[in-house]
Amino acid sequence: MKKLLELITEKMEEAFENQGFDKSYARVTVSNRPDLCEFQCNGAMALAKAAGRAPIEIAEQIAGELEGLDLFSEVSAVKPGFLNLKLSENYLSAYLKGMQQDERLGCEKTEKPETIMIDYGGPNVAKPLHVGHLRSAVIGESIKRMGIFMGNTMIGDVHLGDWGLQMGLIITELKERKPDLPYFDPAFEGNYPKEAPFTIAELEEIYPTASAKSKEDERYKEKAMQATYELQHGNKGYRALWNHIIRVSVDDLKRNYKRLDVSFELWKGESDAQSYIPEMVRRMKDDGYAYISEGALVVDVKEETDTKEIPPCMILKSDGASLYNTTDLATIVQRMGTFDPNEIIYVVDKRQELYFTQVFRCARKTKLVSDATKLEFVGFGTMNGKDGKPFKTREGGVMRLETLLNEIEEKMYAKIAENDTMPEDEAHETAAKIALAAVKYGDLSNQASKDYIFDIERFTSFEGNTGPYILYTIVRIKSILNKYTAADNSLEGLYVGAANSESEKALQLELAKYNGVIENAFQELAPHKVCSYIYDLSNACNHFYHETKILSEENEGLKRSYIALLDLTRRVLETCIRVLGFSAPDRM
Ligand code: ARG
Repeated sequence: MKKLLELITEKMEEAFENQGFDKSYARVTVSNRPDLCEFQCNGAMALAKAAGRAPIEIAEQIAGELEGLDLFSEVSAVKPGFLNLKLSENYLSAYLKGMQQDERLGCEKTEKPETIMIDYGGPNVAKPLHVGHLRSAVIGESIKRMGIFMGNTMIGDVHLGDWGLQMGLIITELKERKPDLPYFDPAFEGNYPKEAPFTIAELEEIYPTASAKSKEDERYKEKAMQATYELQHGNKGYRALWNHIIRVSVDDLKRNYKRLDVSFELWKGESDAQSYIPEMVRRMKDDGYAYISEGALVVDVKEETDTKEIPPCMILKSDGASLYNTTDLATIVQRMGTFDPNEIIYVVDKRQELYFTQVFRCARKTKLVSDATKLEFVGFGTMNGKDGKPFKTREGGVMRLETLLNEIEEKMYAKIAENDTMPEDEAHETAAKIALAAVKYGDLSNQASKDYIFDIERFTSFEGNTGPYILYTIVRIKSILNKYTAADNSLEGLYVGAANSESEKALQLELAKYNGVIENAFQELAPHKVCSYIYDLSNACNHFYHETKILSEENEGLKRSYIALLDLTRRVLETCIRVLGFSAPDRM
């Protein structure tokens, strides 16, 4: 469906042209004075300047032209030259009827669907997910879902950190503890065991122990570096061990991401890109892009218009070792070769922005991607505690994501158990849904690039701009609809009628904005725009609810129209939270 604002603008353009004016002046916007009007056009003022006439005269002339259109219930020219508009109630309800009849609620898919890869998550193998990984997962998942909703092919890749020194550290520590394992016997010829020689709990203890040791003990660190080198250069036993580490770790990561309702199409990692490096480096050298500087192989990426210095992109260190850079560039080669995407989006901590500027420029300059391929960096800010410093446990350690979710779920469970008689199973399931909404909405409602304060008290509140408040609104609607259908009524064939009150019209106008919302939020890769829309919509809905008798309305026609309006509101809200990445329970 065309957007309401487009339809109004078209009529306004016609009116301008009919009066002999240029239609470029006919821009209509949602009013910033909702007490006076719903939409406004300020074109008469700009036009007056050009035409050397009084703006109010022009505004009146246009108002006259718009008189009698079924689109508006009120058109007024106001000094110095504004056109204030109110939409006709009939026109609005007909528009909503169109939304009701469309399974996409009037939001059209993109005309040119694209293949878009999205690199998010970015966890490191053998380390538990902690709160620092939350934002990438939550924002990335939402952007992916918006993209799918708009009709694109979205390919999410978790891009595991599975190839660096941390692997050598784990191998070294295991070797110290269990030197008799066949993985450490160079003469071993048989098949390595199928079972990993550790559990995830052990793995998560081994890594920090090894990491601490390497900081204190230079020799230990050298061993770890040597083990890393051997792993990367084909040591059979280490490779088998590495496979175990990956499998155990990935199983655990999958379980954690599942709980967040986050999923990836691809479970590729840094290791998968390694085989693309030699050929990529050779081409960069042959084509004259890469040169040796102070022993290292680099590509210049600075541009004339830079206002700050952008250092060269380092491809290989002086000892020939590859870097984080090299892997990301080779991953681009791999992605282009496998999927030829129109765009690759990276959802990563904004502190890596300069790094990605270098990588993107290098990829473009060395022609790893075509000119048409978009490379987009969505940098997110830090999740802080109430003290304004990065979020920590009470003891000051890094908070595991799992611990955080457990804490919030318990809190939600206590809230539900307090005032309800819900069966325990359902209460737990409901608590999990509300907790997820609290965490995700708390994160997504902030512009991604900004730091934000993770305030559990605030995020879990049922009031205010929170996930639980949005769910509460949906649940309230569901409860009304259930009562309605329980009395042997059907929701089929009910349509929204012309608004009767200000609160009803305000809700209808809010609903009519829907089809621009996800489209625009996806264009700008800005899930917070969907959040702020559903917050406004929920407020409008609750305001309408408080002002209106619904189930007790005696006029059957009116009652049906109210029910249709609530049902449409529910559909819009549920579609929006689905793209944000959470869902609503039936009651709470
Ligand atoms: N594993 C990295 C880290 O912990 C994040 C990966 C981000 N994605 C990428 N393609 N570099 O910092």
